[in-house]
Amino acid sequence: MIILGIETSCDETAASVASFDNGVVKILSNVVSSQINIHKKYGGVVPEIAAREHMENIIPVIDKALAKAGIDKKELAGGKKNKPLDAIAIATGPGLITSLLVGVETAKTLSFAWDVPLVSVNHIEGHIYANFISETQISKSKFPTVILTVSGGHTMIVLMDGHGKFKMIGETRDDAAGEAFDKAAKLLGIGYPGGPAIAEEAEKWNGKGKITLPRPMINDKSLDLSFSGLKTALLYQIQNDKNWKKRIPAYAHEFQAAVIDVLVSKTIKAAKKYNVNNIMLAGGVASNIKLREELARAVSEKLNKVNLHIPDLRYTTDNAAMVAAAGCFKTKAKKFTSWRKAKADSNQEL
Ligand code: KG4
Ligand code: ZN
Repeated sequence: MIILGIETSCDETAASVASFDNGVVKILSNVVSSQINIHKKYGGVVPEIAAREHMENIIPVIDKALAKAGIDKKELAGGKKNKPLDAIAIATGPGLITSLLVGVETAKTLSFAWDVPLVSVNHIEGHIYANFISETQISKSKFPTVILTVSGGHTMIVLMDGHGKFKMIGETRDDAAGEAFDKAAKLLGIGYPGGPAIAEEAEKWNGKGKITLPRPMINDKSLDLSFSGLKTALLYQIQNDKNWKKRIPAYAHEFQAAVIDVLVSKTIKAAKKYNVNNIMLAGGVASNIKLREELARAVSEKLNKVNLHIPDLRYTTDNAAMVAAAGCFKTKAKKFTSWRKAKADSNQEL
């Protein structure tokens, strides 16, 4: 089975081709055209600009993904039999509506013109399925699994009982973890996107002049999280520190440590509560090296016989390989959406 994935939820125009045989998802091409450098000067994504960029990039990006996977476009033309594509998987939401529309309308057009079925994928579901891109057989023992899903727009702890079976067991009550990194980086004046900027500054800390920030809700019984108070605590501390500009690495280090402590602690709590033998990490914040290391350490120290799955770095921030991967399992289950019904939905729930 061969699937084309398309992703335009925010500021990356992405297309990918995946093959799916005997339960193994293999990525044949993964093309991402990032707009980070364009939005950088505004300190965040400007929806109008993002949509225009998607419009210009979408067809060249899809063209490149097909070519890299060795797919001959002529074979996709209407009326041809034995098409080299079994489905087009499209991320329909959540995300910025003007960005989503470009990908969704393109996918619908291609489905109509090529007569290839369409599969609608939730963007968060896509992030989760980055964990199912593998060279090895995905065994049933991956379920149940707890997934720490941390991106710029969402932070939730998900219990997954089987393919397409998700239950949200914890979520942020205010800011998403990635959003917290972005806001903290803005306060510290170290650029956009904030996650990588904070991680880079944190690395520079020499261990002197330790800052202390709170770990919001870490002792709370629920699996919910909260990050807006942490950002405010950072703001108050730098307002009261005349020399804060000289201590940016110390602030970045403590901020990153506070976010990670809470994320790791809640994930371990969730795994214990639901007695799972698998934990997965998903979303843009999953590219944070310290988070990957700390979660791995906590799993080996605090849990028994739990497998930790961490996606390859290139599949953590927005990409279409994750959408294609989810599309593989949905196509196998024949969960198609007709091009007449597929719709971009900025608030689509998992
Ligand atoms: O999943 P993603 O690419 O887009 C959304 O679906 O939101 O996530 C983007 C978020 C941004 O907030 C960015 O600051 C954060 O992921 N991020 C990181 C790192 N790389 C990206 N956060 C922490 N550490 C990183 N290395
Ligand atoms: Zn995302």
